[in-house]
Amino acid sequence: MPSPSEPPERVKLCGHEIMNIGSLSLSNGLFLAPMAGISDSAFRMVARSFGASLCYSEMISAEGLVRGTGRSFEYLASPPGDKPLGIQLFGANPEALAEAAIIAVEQGADLVDINMGCPVKKVIRNGAGAALMKDPARVAAIVSVVRRAVTCPLTVKLRSGWSEASINVVEIARIVQDCGVDAVTVHPRTAVRGFRGGADWRLTAQVKNVLSVPVIGSGDIWTAADIRRIRDVAGCDAVMVARGSLGNPWIFRDALREEESGLSAGGPSPTEREETIRRHMHLALDLYGENRGMFIFRKHMLWYTKGLPGGARFRKTVLEEKSREAVLESLHRFLHSTEVLMSPDSQERLV
Ligand SMILES: Cc1cc2nc3c(=O)[nH]c(=O)nc-3n(C[C@H](O)[C@H](O)[C@H](O)COP(=O)(O)O)c2cc1C
Repeated sequence: MPSPSEPPERVKLCGHEIMNIGSLSLSNGLFLAPMAGISDSAFRMVARSFGASLCYSEMISAEGLVRGTGRSFEYLASPPGDKPLGIQLFGANPEALAEAAIIAVEQGADLVDINMGCPVKKVIRNGAGAALMKDPARVAAIVSVVRRAVTCPLTVKLRSGWSEASINVVEIARIVQDCGVDAVTVHPRTAVRGFRGGADWRLTAQVKNVLSVPVIGSGDIWTAADIRRIRDVAGCDAVMVARGSLGNPWIFRDALREEESGLSAGGPSPTEREETIRRHMHLALDLYGENRGMFIFRKHMLWYTKGLPGGARFRKTVLEEKSREAVLESLHRFLHSTEVLMSPDSQERLV
């Protein structure tokens, strides 16, 4: 293992830095974040098509997988092209997490991630997620046991700490590295803060300075420019895009183009937006079935059309449509309306 003073060599392929997480070789350092209710295989496939080199599942309960309860197994669903795939697990029991990691790998995970950042009540009340930031001994036990259970790359996702009074991400990052993880993701906000306040990328830089394994930066990544900025400020090896990808999976392509040419890319044309929404919707409906799929896809439709002129009116009517064909017809009419085509952001002007 290289020492912190010897940073891993960065190799470029077609202008993009390729990177390794353990035995996994990735074509660039742009990842889709684990997001509960969002990072399903449908959205992952869309993110991959625009360049995300690694996509994570939403967090999955280790206990749920071990006992076969709830929707845990459903969250593992992954079509053949959905690779490489990181499966994120949450739990507080080392043995259950190890057993769940084995199941995840058997079901196709290329990488296992352990959630140590979720501040949601039903997760932390059992000592899992961000509650682990308060329990370094348990962190060490979990990572050691899971490390022995699986040979695939293992990562953890951390917060800054539990509260402003107990910021300990550097200490926890050192512990997990010593216990054998292959990379660490840092979302530098405390659990108590949730999503309030800015992400403090300087903390990510502190972690990067002491670790020899790759550090993945997360937090407040809204544009391709933010991806460049977090790399400059934190020196991180990879960047995880979360809320910035909602309704904007093109962010990955924008960042890659910017990295390659130094020029900032424009957004999608109405035709490309329509094609992407259509593809995403078909994938979601195939995954969940027509009715549930339509319900689940609603939020994406909202994000994809947010900020477009007449978007609010469109969403009102589209919510009333019941069939896939009617929704797509209505979408086509909206995206090719004079209002949208003539908007300043449109790249597909009317002639
Ligand atoms: C709706 C939503 C769901 C999330 N679910 C998870 C999750 O399941 N596991 C996890 O580690 N982080 C989860 N996160 C946190 C993100 O992965 C990311 O670290 C965080 O949003 C900060 O990045 P951003 O400010 O660029 O959005 C979630 C975030 C959002 C907005």
